Amino acid sequence: MPTPSIYVTRRIFPEAIALLRSVAEVRQWESDLPPPYERLLAEAKQSDALFTLLTDRIDAPLLAAAPQLRVVSNMAVGYNNVDVAAATARGIYIGNTPGVLTETTAEFAFALLLAWARRVPEAQRFAREGRWKTWEPMSLLGVDLHGATLGIVGVGRIGEAMARRARAFQMRILYQSRTRKPALERELGIIYAGLDTLLAESDFVSLHVPLNAETRGLIGARQLAKMKPTAALINTARGDVVDQAALIKALQAKSIAGAALDVTDPEPLPAGNPLYQMENVLLTPHIASASRGTRLRMAMMAALNIVDVLEGRAPTHCVNSEATGRRPSRAPA
Ligand code: DGY
Repeated sequence: MPTPSIYVTRRIFPEAIALLRSVAEVRQWESDLPPPYERLLAEAKQSDALFTLLTDRIDAPLLAAAPQLRVVSNMAVGYNNVDVAAATARGIYIGNTPGVLTETTAEFAFALLLAWARRVPEAQRFAREGRWKTWEPMSLLGVDLHGATLGIVGVGRIGEAMARRARAFQMRILYQSRTRKPALERELGIIYAGLDTLLAESDFVSLHVPLNAETRGLIGARQLAKMKPTAALINTARGDVVDQAALIKALQAKSIAGAALDVTDPEPLPAGNPLYQMENVLLTPHIASASRGTRLRMAMMAALNIVDVLEGRAPTHCVNSEATGRRPSRAPA
């Protein structure tokens, strides 16, 4: 039985590499930047498993060119970088890392909300640039969270965790979700609303939907026009959920007050994009899950998904369990 082979597309925690080495031969792209697509393709051709990140494009041609590939494990809860249908058709499992990043991501979404509302980055710049001359009653005035309305679009794990934080801050919470959540409505006092109502009534709109065909461009010019001129958009989901050109126009026209964005379209946001220059925009480089503990848990979970498959089981965290058994198993007898 040949030793299985794993390709890891980035520099990751050594603990995860050690776990992978315990079951297979591991090759690694030891950089913080992604491997070029051609390199990924060449590596996929000789791999039983790929350990990938959300910036690695795992498309149908790559999957078709990888005869031994049995699992692609994405170190992310999202998997919009993967052609899941093509993988399923070839019997290739797709693993992800749900759950472990929920609280950390909601903490960061809430950090963006607070920082935008109370103008924290601007205030820091003000102090560092020597503009702090006295206690000024009229400068750097922000907005309160208590008593304000937060609209949560998408109440899955992270949206719910966001609602719990907002409740502790005495906010009124509207939500929109594919399914209604009566138990959460009772527990947290959250109010189910259609998207238009949510947009029209919220002081802050926070996005927590996965990126898929239904949510791509969910917040476009029409939806932005519904928002209050004093409201801000918070996005820790995926950049493509928002029509970014429409958002830039709305911000320039001041038809909304601002935005706090951890995700953009594309990523990284190209130099010169107007979002970099806007005083009412808080921009961070897709770091909502970036606490040391959470990133380690994500790496271990993604590695364990691979171990599962190489040992003959479906990945514990699998987005296409219907792929089961369509590949010849190379697991030890
Ligand atoms: C994910 O996991 O999908 C995030 O965007 C990165 O943590």
